[in-house]
Amino acid sequence: MQIQVFDKTFEPYITATQINEQIKKIAAQLNIDYAGKRPLFIAILNGSFMFASDLFKELTIDAEICFIKLASYKGTKSTGNVITSIGLDIPLTDRHLIIVEDIVDTGKTLDAFLPQLINQQPVTLKIAALLHKPEALQFPVTIDYLGFEVPNKFLLGYGLDYDGLGRNLKEIYKLVE
Ligand code: IMP
Ligand code: MG
Repeated sequence: MQIQVFDKTFEPYITATQINEQIKKIAAQLNIDYAGKRPLFIAILNGSFMFASDLFKELTIDAEICFIKLASYKGTKSTGNVITSIGLDIPLTDRHLIIVEDIVDTGKTLDAFLPQLINQQPVTLKIAALLHKPEALQFPVTIDYLGFEVPNKFLLGYGLDYDGLGRNLKEIYKLVE
């Protein structure tokens, strides 16, 4: 069923079941790759809170999680400016880091943020993203754990918002143009 948020109409695109299946697969791989390494997950707010939470619940290994806030989006367009508004308070040196992102779009957010992490000399640094828009990528970003490749369309739900609304949807919706 289509839904309306402000001036825009969205149609169902990825079901809650499909999301959960992909998250279980990613978690199963992480459980193998990080056994005994006590990785630190760094989830990027706001969008990734739901993915981070569902992914973290599927982990059976010892793991830590923390949250930072970065943003480059306003409305349905990337502004190109990445703002950091909550910093990191955990030392990253000698840690295994996994960045948790809801969606990699232009790659600008991660391109701006990753050097700050690399500066602190973690042992490894990998990226887990639920969604990736390969056609929109402007900055090179390698995604190590990916849920879905999606077209260059504005998506809503499961943490993703349109001007603050829609994050609570259990499914992912696509903008009807
Ligand atoms: P990037 O810096 O262009 O890669 O954009 C990354 C951030 O923009 C994501 O973490 C999201 O928070 C937001 N974003 C990108 N695409 C969408 C979308 O289709 N819907 C809602 N938010 C999006
Ligand atoms: Mg985000």
